[in-house]
Amino acid sequence: MVNYKLKIKNASQLVVVSKNKPYLVGKDMSNVEIIENGSLIVDSNGIIIDIGTEQEILDRHRDDSFDTVIDCQGRAVIPGLVDGHTHPVYAGDRVHEFAMKLAGATYLEVQKAGGGIGFTVQHTRQASESDLFNLLKPRLDRMLKQGTTLIEAKSGYGLETDTEMKMLKVLHRAAQSHAIEISATYLGGHAIPKGSTAEQATEDIVNKQLPELKRLRDAGEISPENIDVFLERGFFEYDDTKRILEAGQQLGLAINFHGDELSFMKSGELAGELKARAISHLEKVSEEGMLEMAKVPTFAVLLPTTAYVLRLECPPARRMIELNVPVALGSDYNPNAHCLSMPFVMNLACVLMKMNMNEALVAATINSAASINKSKTHGSLEIGKYADMVIIDSNRWEHIIYEMVDPPISHVIKKGSVVFQ
Ligand code: NIG
Ligand code: FE
Repeated sequence: MVNYKLKIKNASQLVVVSKNKPYLVGKDMSNVEIIENGSLIVDSNGIIIDIGTEQEILDRHRDDSFDTVIDCQGRAVIPGLVDGHTHPVYAGDRVHEFAMKLAGATYLEVQKAGGGIGFTVQHTRQASESDLFNLLKPRLDRMLKQGTTLIEAKSGYGLETDTEMKMLKVLHRAAQSHAIEISATYLGGHAIPKGSTAEQATEDIVNKQLPELKRLRDAGEISPENIDVFLERGFFEYDDTKRILEAGQQLGLAINFHGDELSFMKSGELAGELKARAISHLEKVSEEGMLEMAKVPTFAVLLPTTAYVLRLECPPARRMIELNVPVALGSDYNPNAHCLSMPFVMNLACVLMKMNMNEALVAATINSAASINKSKTHGSLEIGKYADMVIIDSNRWEHIIYEMVDPPISHVIKKGSVVFQ
């Protein structure tokens, strides 16, 4: 007889998502693996050690005991959602900008009027580390309640060494203390600081910020895994972006950048040159860029909230799937696109970007996990992976996408522990 941490039983649908695959592309994105009337078992480390039909698990574990048994009573279970792109550490409220945008101002017009990233930078520089942590925590709590168990999270509202490192420290502390897991991204190249030029900002990042990042990482005070730059006209253009990303790559950071959002900037082409792990946005990506991305492969992290709130054209998700570009989803949570909900993001991806529900789930689980190099341990319900799960208050899993605004979530489970109920 063996004692285990958790048994999940009587799941009408145990949505495995994918089996033995690091990510899915093309038509495979529409084939979500499901065990009807399923059950699974989790060990004391929070890892799935067995999964199958109710009867199979019963037969194999007749003599075992469990600290907790959750009887789903015919509800569906999916893997914890993975948010592939967030900016959750910041101070200052930009709700007034929403009014400006509704009145017709574009993102760049808001930026020029003293709003946008510059506004948030000013407030974030003034905030202390503990202020920022206290602002971050309830945001993470809200994400968790919506089924998110792993996020990519960026710095990028400092644009100088001290504040960028302060943000990474806040993310490091949150990663150690909050149920949500975090893959931190250094985004010193989010905008050109006031009074500076792209050239000076690039120098500062390469020669000051990155060396300090390395020092603090070696000292165990921060734990960045990825490097990002906002490749955009008037922000960082192709050559500066390339220089920053390469410098980060040399420090072992994975390249995961913002590109082709407001203007076509040859992002896919740059990803091909640098063998980037991921590009976010891609509203204006070219056919050649997508072909490059499929080749590398570079993940397309699509952010339907941005297109929605800025009333932009959506990225060509259908064409990407046709070309075998691996597609992932993110909330882009930031003061411009204030969305903490991956179920809503999946709904937008379906309605606005014409993805089907299976594709949206794949993009918000195994593929978004793979976009931050976590799909060996996260993103699907498989033996050997963490038991991160969402129990849905319905016998059909699709209700998490279909029911807008307040998705029917009965439990969120992180590494085999119930973290929201
Ligand atoms: O992903 N596009 C650049 N960065 C963010 C917006 C950040 C902000 O407006 O504060 C984005 O949408
Ligand atoms: Fe972003």
